[in-house]
Amino acid sequence: MFHNFYKNKKVLITGHTGFKGTWLTLWLFLLGAKITGISNSFYTKPSHFKLLKLNRKIKHLSLDISKMELLNSVIKKSKPDIIFHLAGQSMVKKSFLNPLETWKTNSLGTINILECLRKYNKKCSLIIITSDKSYKNLEIKRGYKETDLIGGEDPYSASKSSAELAIQSYFKSFLNKDKKIKLVVARAGNVIGGGDWTADRLMPDAVKSWIVNKSLTVRNPISTRPWQHVLDVLYGYLILGYLLSKNKKLNGEVFNFGPNYKKNYKVIEVLKIVKKIWPGVKWRIIKNSSFYESKLLKLNSSKAFKKLRWKTSLNLDVTLKFTIDWYRKFYKNPKKVFKISSDSIKNYIKELKYYN
Ligand SMILES: NC(=O)c1ccc[n+]([C@@H]2O[C@H](COP(=O)([O-])OP(=O)(O)OC[C@H]3O[C@@H](n4cnc5c(N)ncnc54)[C@H](O)[C@@H]3O)[C@@H](O)[C@H]2O)c1
Repeated sequence: MFHNFYKNKKVLITGHTGFKGTWLTLWLFLLGAKITGISNSFYTKPSHFKLLKLNRKIKHLSLDISKMELLNSVIKKSKPDIIFHLAGQSMVKKSFLNPLETWKTNSLGTINILECLRKYNKKCSLIIITSDKSYKNLEIKRGYKETDLIGGEDPYSASKSSAELAIQSYFKSFLNKDKKIKLVVARAGNVIGGGDWTADRLMPDAVKSWIVNKSLTVRNPISTRPWQHVLDVLYGYLILGYLLSKNKKLNGEVFNFGPNYKKNYKVIEVLKIVKKIWPGVKWRIIKNSSFYESKLLKLNSSKAFKKLRWKTSLNLDVTLKFTIDWYRKFYKNPKKVFKISSDSIKNYIKELKYYN
């Protein structure tokens, strides 16, 4: 895969203990990369990262990316060839409870990475993960394109879009003049998959209830999400890392990574599909919730297909089957988690429609 590009490459992953970061760390470990991971000490309970014991397989560092000097010394010491920047305060709801922390991590943290690379004296590719929420919500139905306006209102969206402004400024003012540094930005929406125990996300909340035969409380049955599997999106990030090293035209580009199905599925429709995969699961709908619900922005991902040959390979049914199968296998035999997750990646690769 990727013509062995990642074998022995020095890769730095920020946010490596999070939902996406753990899967990316595992995948890159299986591809033979030499990984340094930096994250703050936040862990979900349980934590996929801890269960996989990845701290023993990589250089695992606990560090706050808003602390510039510490970050700089890690980058200088680990000398990465590639950086995947995923560290972020990832929850919209939490951004209302703690806006300052959200801004520090999402905006200042990203600026710190850019500032470190401005002074970096070695070749490096930087893949920056932002969000579909970077786009200014123009209340339009067509999918948002990479050239659409950015701008957000809630603290999470605003912190991500301001990070994007900083990226553009650093690129145009410094990094595009530096032949050693190349960067790309990846915007994706909500992803699902096994190994996620983050609170206030549908699948983790559902599984936590169903595994103890409880009914799931559903607050927003008709809200929609761009349901896509975490491995589909990570595959896109890995293609970016690989192609950026070969194709200088990608330098400074932004890519959307969204599902390729036309229809937007509602929570209730998703639950009905899940019930076919996991018979007996139950839910009850609570009305008049005051829970914050952000509006869905649909992404147009045709640029990723045209330039990267990337498209989601799993349709919604398969995405949900992959997700539910992971949790059921895990709860049946938690000790086998490393094999279960590694097999998920191998099985995903078999499903790939376009292969880089
Ligand atoms: N999960 C999604 O559906 C989704 C959707 C769109 C965008 N994103 C973005 O993708 C990235 C990864 O998402 P995720 O779901 O894995 O998030 P997550 O919350 O599961 O993990 C976040 C990671 O960042 C680390 N982190 C947080 N603050 C930090 C700090 N100040 N210093 C160092 N590390 C810090 C955490 O320790 C963790 O490793 C985030 O930037 C998120 O905003 C995620």
